[in-house]
Amino acid sequence: MKKIQISPSILSADFGQLASEIKRLEDGGADMIHVDVMDGHFVPNLTIGPPVINRLRNCTKLPFDVHLMITPVHKYIKDYAAAGADIITIHPEATNNLKDSIEHIKSFKKKVGVSLNPDTKIDIIEEVISEVDLVLVMSVFPGFGGQKFMPEVVDKIKNLKKEKDKKNLNFDIEVDGGINFQNNKIVIEAGANILVSGTTIFKENNGNIKKNIDALKLI
Ligand code: DX5
Ligand code: ZN
Repeated sequence: MKKIQISPSILSADFGQLASEIKRLEDGGADMIHVDVMDGHFVPNLTIGPPVINRLRNCTKLPFDVHLMITPVHKYIKDYAAAGADIITIHPEATNNLKDSIEHIKSFKKKVGVSLNPDTKIDIIEEVISEVDLVLVMSVFPGFGGQKFMPEVVDKIKNLKKEKDKKNLNFDIEVDGGINFQNNKIVIEAGANILVSGTTIFKENNGNIKKNIDALKLI
């Protein structure tokens, strides 16, 4: 059983203090930093890109778990690799050739993730599932923090875990969107081993990051 890891999303952080917010997450026990990149095209919101990620790179040793909600995505992969991403996660719908884009991410010696929207079936990644390091199961439609968890994705996590065990694969199962103290146990028991959270980590318990991270990890 893989150790449960927490990847706080800085989408819910104070964008005017991103460096110190990342330090707070690191001090609070975050395992990695979830960076939500949005282009206002693939999703109806716009956040940060390579220049900001590059500036934030030196403020923590934690891995940058970069979630690219952009299209086209293939031609920008090199910029996120150069900016300091450690994991680069893309949406299959954002590239013309998923296999090529996965190879391209690996060519920069980065870990590769693929993300499944709530209405995207696992079969879309069937052909590449043995090539990826991480599958990111969206439990909200991407674009905004603070949305309500969609319980219908729990079965998808279970089926993904079954597929992973059947093929004896070792990819991480990450879940992202509306994760809180009421649903964390459910998604962990379903097979997720990395939990993304923005709102719960920054807002609950008067913003006590360590308390919120430990509670999500079921410590
Ligand atoms: C949504 C992002 C998520 C989101 C999570 O498009 O991919 O990472 O920021 O935030 P919460 O935990 O507030 O749902
Ligand atoms: Zn995300």
